Amino acid sequence: MTHFARIVGTGGYLPERILTNAELETMVDTSDAWIRERTGITQRHIAAEGEFTLDLAEQASRRAIDMAGIRIDEIDMIIVATTTPDQVFPSTACLLQSRLGVHGCPAFDIQAVCTGFVYALAVADQFMRTGAATTVLVVGAETFSRIIDWTDRNTCVLFGDGAGAAVLKQDTAPGILSTHLHADGDYANLLQVPQGVSNNLAAVQEGRAFVEMAGGEVFRMAVKTLGRIVDETLEANQLDKSDVDWLVPHQANSRIIAATARKLRMPVSKVVQTVAEHGNTSAASIPLALDVAVRDGRIKRGDTILMEGFGGGFTWGSALVNW
Ligand code: ACO
Repeated sequence: MTHFARIVGTGGYLPERILTNAELETMVDTSDAWIRERTGITQRHIAAEGEFTLDLAEQASRRAIDMAGIRIDEIDMIIVATTTPDQVFPSTACLLQSRLGVHGCPAFDIQAVCTGFVYALAVADQFMRTGAATTVLVVGAETFSRIIDWTDRNTCVLFGDGAGAAVLKQDTAPGILSTHLHADGDYANLLQVPQGVSNNLAAVQEGRAFVEMAGGEVFRMAVKTLGRIVDETLEANQLDKSDVDWLVPHQANSRIIAATARKLRMPVSKVVQTVAEHGNTSAASIPLALDVAVRDGRIKRGDTILMEGFGGGFTWGSALVNW
């Protein structure tokens, strides 16, 4: 018997502290006008000292679990997508498992940077289709502010912290219609934190491991690649552009989002956008945006939703979902 995965609850959490463009003007040589025009971002949330990825993940998860109306002990798999884990190990998923009081089920992290949530959703979907998991908590959580060089105007205006979560339950009808994952490691040097525990532990320990990005090249590749994945997803489901009710894209830059919407011939009113208020929260951005549109009533049962992401690696992917 085939099983399917259905999203039955979503949750989001943003740290209290808001960093505005006006404040950034006092930190680096930039302007509110430049940031708005080139990125669409007006503000981002920044985790407090002592507030970690796990804390954000826990808040978002509890909200998703509440909406799903499930018991904690029904969860039989936890997947956390993050680039900014609290510790080298255990995984953030294991730490979250303990926080939530879940015991025994598999729990693991996925690292695909901004495409992390789509990767995590795809993995959950595979486990659920085979019947190996019935109730999965999928989280995207980041404290990207910790790997940002706050003196580098090329990157520091773009990112923010946050977490989003989804509870998936097994169903006899989909749910997740299809997922599509890709990567090409040849592009690693265009978007990276070049240091890590194995090749430069000192840089990590001294807080010198920061995001480096060739912004223009990333921008062009993102637009081209996201256009292709829209076609791939629709073809796989024999659907037309007009069948998609909502686009819930990775929130990196409003101009990248607009280009993907144009490709879908979709009016901006059908695109869920949170980049202005959240900035780019990497793996958290898609589930945060999804949660906003579910809670404000835009996304309704029966709607067809296309989620897509692009990030470091490069990685890219999509998920088509029947809500
Ligand atoms: N304020 C003012 N000027 C700036 C700033 C800033 N914050 N940042 C860069 N500039 C300057 C640069 O120094 C450069 O100046 P120069 O021409 O004198 O050298 C100029 O602006 C660059 O201008 P453009 O190339 O026209 O900028 P562009 O329109 O490409 O916008 C941006 C730059 C916003 C970074 C864009 O390229 C972008 O969004 N790229 C994709 C970024 C992205 O999505 N990254 C995340 C991917 S997902 C992940 O995995 C993390």
